[in-house]
Amino acid sequence: MDAQVTKQPLNWSELGFQYIKTDTRYRAVWRDGAWSLGELIGEENIAIHEGAPSIHYAQQCFEGMKAQTAPDGRILLFRPELNAERMRRTAQRLLMPDVPVEMFVDAVKRVVSANASWVPPYGSGASLYIRPMLIGVGENLGLKPAQSYEFRVFVSPVGPYYKQAGLGTISLAVSEMDRAAPRGTGSYKAGANYAGGLLATKQAQALGANEALYLDSREERFIDEAGSANIVIVMKDGSVATPKSEAILPSITRRSIMTLAEKKLGLTTVERQIELRKEIGDFAEAAACGTAAVLSPVGRIWFDDAWHQVGEGDVAGPVMHKLYDLLVGIQKGELADEFGWTVAVD
Ligand SMILES: Cc1ncc(COP(=O)(O)O)c(C=O)c1O
Repeated sequence: MDAQVTKQPLNWSELGFQYIKTDTRYRAVWRDGAWSLGELIGEENIAIHEGAPSIHYAQQCFEGMKAQTAPDGRILLFRPELNAERMRRTAQRLLMPDVPVEMFVDAVKRVVSANASWVPPYGSGASLYIRPMLIGVGENLGLKPAQSYEFRVFVSPVGPYYKQAGLGTISLAVSEMDRAAPRGTGSYKAGANYAGGLLATKQAQALGANEALYLDSREERFIDEAGSANIVIVMKDGSVATPKSEAILPSITRRSIMTLAEKKLGLTTVERQIELRKEIGDFAEAAACGTAAVLSPVGRIWFDDAWHQVGEGDVAGPVMHKLYDLLVGIQKGELADEFGWTVAVD
């Protein structure tokens, strides 16, 4: 990647989490059992048939990932093969064709490379959000899988996802609605999961929270996840716990954080059911984690008609601070990539 590429005249440090149209996106079409050769195109609008299953029956899925600029000018992806594998898994669940891992990663690299001028510069605090998506297209009014599919990847420079209050903490409000059934599609990145969550997010925000927090839908006791992030908790005994649930998205950020907690900080890590009401008093620190959320410390949680403070409340705790620095340091190429997590875009 040419580190000398002239960047777009954007106010990088002021960016929010919104779509900004970039120059180029990737498109491939699946028809008659095979993918077309992928191509880079300029047009951001997609013309699909009014009877397409993606727009009626939500036969579609997506991924979310980021590219960042390293101090030496390289553009780095973070564990892109895990996003590719997650999309394959989701596609299988929704009876859509696989996008092979190599095709997925190649498409992402090509789009990022073609939009190098839109990749926020090192030190700006912004990053390039990458949105791969797979949709069922073509006429298909009956409730059955589409005959044809489109795989697209587009990108947009973005700033922070949450507007943080206090000293960098966010707040969550337990939703009275369920996000996913125990054996439903909660662990897949299907768009259908998110439409159902819009009202929960709105209600959480009306309470002054950044986002909804979901408990398990079977018993309403155990933490599942937030609307667009998994949850990680530092317990007062020093261990790092994260919810065990079949209904949550297997977050790539969470897997990385748990590895860092264990291997770099030497902490005991455990994936187990976490009973919110019973255990919140034992939480030293909590955070929401994800590609968009990165690692956002949680200061307060709303449930049973009251706010409940987590740890020190509106102050980010020391362990989350260290985990954030390690994660972001590796993602931005500031720290040695000892786990082999970053992939440079040529
Ligand atoms: C519902 C949900 N949970 C968790 C995550 C975090 O996953 P990842 O770390 O792979 O981005 C996301 C996406 O960011 C999400 O949409």
